[in-house]
Parts: sequence; structure tokens; C-alpha cells
Amino acid sequence: MTENKTENNEKINTKNIGLRGIQVADTMISGVDGEKGKLEYRGYSIEDLADHSSFEETAYLLLYGDLPTHKQLNELKMELVKERNIPEQVVQILKSRASSALSMDVLQSAISLLADFDPDLLADDKDAHRRKGIRLISKVATVIAAWDRIRNGLEYIKPDKTLSHSANFLYMINGVKPKEEVARYIDTTFILHADHAFNASTFTARGVASTRAHMYAAVTAAVGTLSGVLHGGANTRVMKELLVLDEPSRVENWVKSKLNKGELIMGMGHAKYKTNDPRAIILKHIAEKLGRITNKSKWYEMTQLIEETTKKEFWNLKQRNIHPNVDLYSASVYYMMGIDVEIYTSLFAVQRMVGWVAHIIEEKFAEAQPKAVLYRPSSTYIGRNCGDESCEYQPIEKRK
Ligand SMILES: CC(C)(COP(=O)(O)OP(=O)(O)OC[C@H]1O[C@@H](n2cnc3c(N)ncnc32)[C@H](O)[C@@H]1OP(=O)(O)O)[C@@H](O)C(=O)NCCC(=O)NCCS
Repeated sequence: MTENKTENNEKINTKNIGLRGIQVADTMISGVDGEKGKLEYRGYSIEDLADHSSFEETAYLLLYGDLPTHKQLNELKMELVKERNIPEQVVQILKSRASSALSMDVLQSAISLLADFDPDLLADDKDAHRRKGIRLISKVATVIAAWDRIRNGLEYIKPDKTLSHSANFLYMINGVKPKEEVARYIDTTFILHADHAFNASTFTARGVASTRAHMYAAVTAAVGTLSGVLHGGANTRVMKELLVLDEPSRVENWVKSKLNKGELIMGMGHAKYKTNDPRAIILKHIAEKLGRITNKSKWYEMTQLIEETTKKEFWNLKQRNIHPNVDLYSASVYYMMGIDVEIYTSLFAVQRMVGWVAHIIEEKFAEAQPKAVLYRPSSTYIGRNCGDESCEYQPIEKRK
């Protein structure tokens, strides 16, 4: 293990590059056990929540710490419905963007603009933060659905008050109310993506919140982080690759060739899970069922082939196991629901918004630690070194 010194002369080991294994804070919101393949929100297993809960109920759990009573759940549902509409100025901005604009870029700018309309923007109490959070959760769903229609030259569909948060999202995209079974599946995807401990974007959101910046600033930073292909962008790549391959018979050689070239197979591997990602197991099940309902089983079968071939070839190459992550099967699940590949990552942001909001509140109000502090990690300076003194400044005329 290589040892280096930080700027404060603390010893670090270079194996912690990328903050792997470094514990930066305590959280009461969700926990991941990468060795056992477990994910819990506030103590409840993801499997139980996926089977029995709804997005709204899970959102309450994440935001308030407990499962709601009927009254509490109805109040949250009503607040979410009330906040669904977006200001006309935001719609106009969406209309002004090039249709080729990246949906995560569009989302970032729309969120910044939404801040202008939030009466609680700089209010610092916890209730105001929850109100801001509920507005964000609700409005970003409308923003992305509207953007998807607008960039395709279609009329933006106003939210339907009678539908749940997730079913309304699908309705605003497709213009058709989803069938009961499909509505249940989209809702499950919202539950599965709602939070995931200190993932890269949540960590970013908490870092921004630790500076006392407002919630919209923290959330736009998180959206930028999620846009990366190693984080939220993987399922878009999975689906694009599936569409190019188009035939199950092409999958095996494609996987082998990529792995032999040292390239990544998107949707496989995880920084935390060293066994099955529990969300991937649930999504695989949904993909299989949706394949049958929609008569599009090909996409499920091809995804399954990617999983099996990658596992086998990865073992042959590295004598190590690799498992599918949440992005592998969500790709074909969304495709079979009629969601365009170009908005997959922003759909992830729509689903993860509740987790970001819960973490921002936990960070700002020091709910899981003695006091709120500014995140400020250390780095090791390994650049130019002129000994004990600083290097001598050379005037430009003397430089060669
Ligand atoms: C998520 C990810 C960044 C985690 O990376 P990580 O923490 O470095 O994972 P590991 O430490 O287990 O990986 C170690 C080895 O497996 C390889 N590996 C990991 N995921 C791989 C993948 N999807 N395809 C091919 N090889 C992979 C790495 O290249 C590395 O090889 P090396 O030891 O020869 O350098 C990585 O698995 C990845 O890039 N996956 C594809 C992108 C993706 O699906 N992201 C969504 C995550 S939810």
C-alpha cells in the first residue's frame, strides 16, 4: 500500500482514490450492504417496498423518516398533485432549446429557473425545505415529460390530477393513461431509484448543501453528476447498444469483443455491490413480464444474454464475478413502456429527486451527526517542487 501525505501532513493511502471505502458522514436515510446485496430505506428492505409500497408512500418514508398514516399519505399526495404545474416561463425556455439539447442539460437549466418561482427559496427552516423538496419532486417530472414532447415537436400535456406521480409521468409522455399493470411497474421503478445512500450525485448534493447553498443549487449540481455515463447515463448506453445489435444472435460476440478490448459493458458492475444488486433482480422480473405484455420480449432476452455472456467472459478473463446493476434491465423496461432513450437519465433524476431532497435536509439540519459542517477533503500535492522554498518566479522574457 503506497503512503502519501496530505496538505496537512496526514497519512493517506492511495487505495482510497475516488474516496472508495472512505466514510464521510452518517446517514439515517438508506443503507447499502454491497457484500450481501441489500438495500434499505429507513430500515425497510427494497424488496418489501417494491412489493407493498407506492412511490408516494416511499417518498414520505424518505422525507419524514417513517411510513405514513392514511392522513399523512393523503396530505403528501395532495401536495404533490398541487405542485405539478410548471410556470409558463419554464415551458417557453423548453421551447427555446435546440431539439438536440441533452435532457440533463435542459433539466439543469429548468431547475435553476424554477428557483425563481419558489417563494421559500432562501427560507431556512425544515418545513420550508420540505415544501421546496415536494415542489421539486413534482415539477421535475412535468419538466422532463414536457421536454420530451416539445423536443419531438408535440404539444406539452398538462398533468392529470387523478393519476399517481409515476403514472402521471408516463401519461404526460405518451398521452395515454397507462394500464394498471404498467402503472404498477413504472411506480416500482420510481421506488427502486428513489435513493441509494452516498452515490456520486447524492454526495455532490450534500457537498453543495454543506456550503449552505440553497436546495436548487444542490440539486442542479446533483443532476450534472448523474449525467455521467459511469453513474446515471449507463442505461441510455445499454438501450442504444441493444438497438444497434437488434438481434439476440449478435450479443455474444459483441460482449466478447468488448471485454477482450478492455471496454466496459454498461449496466454491469457496481462500485458497492459485489454480489447481485437487489434492484437489478426486481427490474429483471419486470422486464420479463413487460416483454410478454407488450410482445417485445426480444429486448428482455437480449439483455439477459448480455448478463450471462458478460458474467462468463469476465470470469474467464479476470477470475472474478461481475453482476448486473440497476441500469441493465431498466433500459429495456423503459423502452417497452414507450419512454424515449434520450430521456432515460433525466427520468433517473426525476426518480432520485426525493432521495437528493431527503439527503440535503439531513445534511443541512445535521439530522445524523452532531453538527452541520462544510465538506472539505484533503489532497496530496505532487506537482513542481523546488525543495524547502517555493520555486523562483521567472519573468516571461527569461523563460525558454
Ligand atoms: C460502476 C463501475 C464504475 C464500478 O467500478 P469499480 O468500482 O471500479 O468496480 P470494480 O472495482 O469492481 O471493477 C474492477 C474491475 O472490473 C472491471 N469492470 C467493472 N465493471 C465493468 C464492466 N461493466 N465491464 C467491464 N469491466 C468492468 C474494471 O475495469 C476493473 O478491471 P481491472 O481490475 O482490470 O482494472 C463499473 O462497474 C462500470 O464502469 N460499470 C459500467 C457503467 C455502469 O453500468 N454504471 C452504472 C452503475 S449503477
